[in-house]
Amino acid sequence: MADLRTSLAGVELANPVVLAAGTCGYIRELADAIRLDRIGAITTKSITVESREGNAPWRIIDSPAGMLNAIGLANVGLTRFIAEKLPSAQALPCRLFGSVAGHSVAEYLAVAAAFDAANEIAAIELNVSCPNTSDGLQFGEYPQALRALLAEVKPCVRHKPLFVKLSPNVGDIVAMAKAAIDGGAQALVVANTFSAMAIDVESRAFRLSRGRGGLSGPGIHPIVVRMVHDVYRSAAREANVPVIALGGCSNWRDAAEFILAGATAVAMGTALFIDPRSPVRVVDGLDAWVTRQGCRSVGELVGMAGA
Ligand SMILES: Cc1cc2nc3c(=O)[nH]c(=O)nc-3n(C[C@H](O)[C@H](O)[C@H](O)COP(=O)(O)O)c2cc1C
Repeated sequence: MADLRTSLAGVELANPVVLAAGTCGYIRELADAIRLDRIGAITTKSITVESREGNAPWRIIDSPAGMLNAIGLANVGLTRFIAEKLPSAQALPCRLFGSVAGHSVAEYLAVAAAFDAANEIAAIELNVSCPNTSDGLQFGEYPQALRALLAEVKPCVRHKPLFVKLSPNVGDIVAMAKAAIDGGAQALVVANTFSAMAIDVESRAFRLSRGRGGLSGPGIHPIVVRMVHDVYRSAAREANVPVIALGGCSNWRDAAEFILAGATAVAMGTALFIDPRSPVRVVDGLDAWVTRQGCRSVGELVGMAGA
C-alpha cells in the first residue's frame, strides 16, 4: 500500500481525494452511497449569509462532455447551516472544508468568521466566483478585486487555513493565483466551472433559465490540467502553496494527471452525479499507480510531469 496521506496547509487528509463544493449536498448526504472514511475531505455547498432559493429551473442540463449548471448558490443560509447541518459533521470520518460565498465583502466576512469558530470545519474555502453587488464585477475575475476581498477576510480567519477557489474565466489564471497568494491564501483550488451557454434550436430558448451557466465534467479536464500546471509552476510551487485540482476528474488517471501537473489534492464534482462511489475507486487507483511508479508516497509525484 502506498502512503496517500496528504497535507494541505497543515490539515492532514487520509488521502488526496476531496468531494467538491455543491456536488455532494451540505455534508453527509452521500454517506449512504460512499464510505466517507475512504476519502480525504468533503467540501460543503457554498454558504451565504441569507438563505437563497437559487435560480428557477432549468438550472442543471446535460452537455456532451459534462453538464451545465446555474444553481445560483441555493442554500439554507448561515444561521440554519450552523444550527441544522453542521451538527451532522460531528464524528465525520474525513475532513470538512467550509465553502463561503457572498455578494459583498461583508457577507464573505460574516460566513468566514462563523466557519473560523466552528470546530467541525478544518479549512475555509472562498468561492470567489460571485458578482459583487456594489460594482457587479466578480471577485474572482480581477486581481485587484480579489486582493481587496482577501485584505478584509484574511485577518478575520485566525484559526483555520484559508483556501481560495479560483475562477477559470480569466485571461491569466496565474495572475489570479498570485493575487490570492499575496492576499494570504494557504491553498488554491483550481478551478470553478467555465462560463457557458446552451440554446434549444427549435424553440430558440436558452436552455438554462438564466441563459448562461457553468460547464463542468470531462470536457473541461484537459483545460484544467493546463491551468494547474501553470499555477503550480509559475506561482504556487515557489510560494509553497498547495493546489487542489478540480475539473472533470472521473477516474484515477485523471487524478494522477492532475498530481503530475502539480496538484497536492484532487477534487471531484460532476463525477459524483454519475457514480457517487467513483472517488473511492480513484483512491484505490492512485494507490496502485503510486506503487507502480516506484514511489512510496503520492507526494513524491506532485508536479513531476515531464520529469
Ligand atoms: C450542480 C453543481 C453545483 C455546484 N455548486 C457549487 C458551489 O456551491 N460552490 C462552489 O464553489 N462550486 C460549486 N460547483 C462547482 C464545483 O465545485 C466544481 O468546481 C466544478 O463542477 C468543476 O469540477 P467537476 O468538473 O469535477 O464537476 C458546483 C458544480 C455543480 C455541477
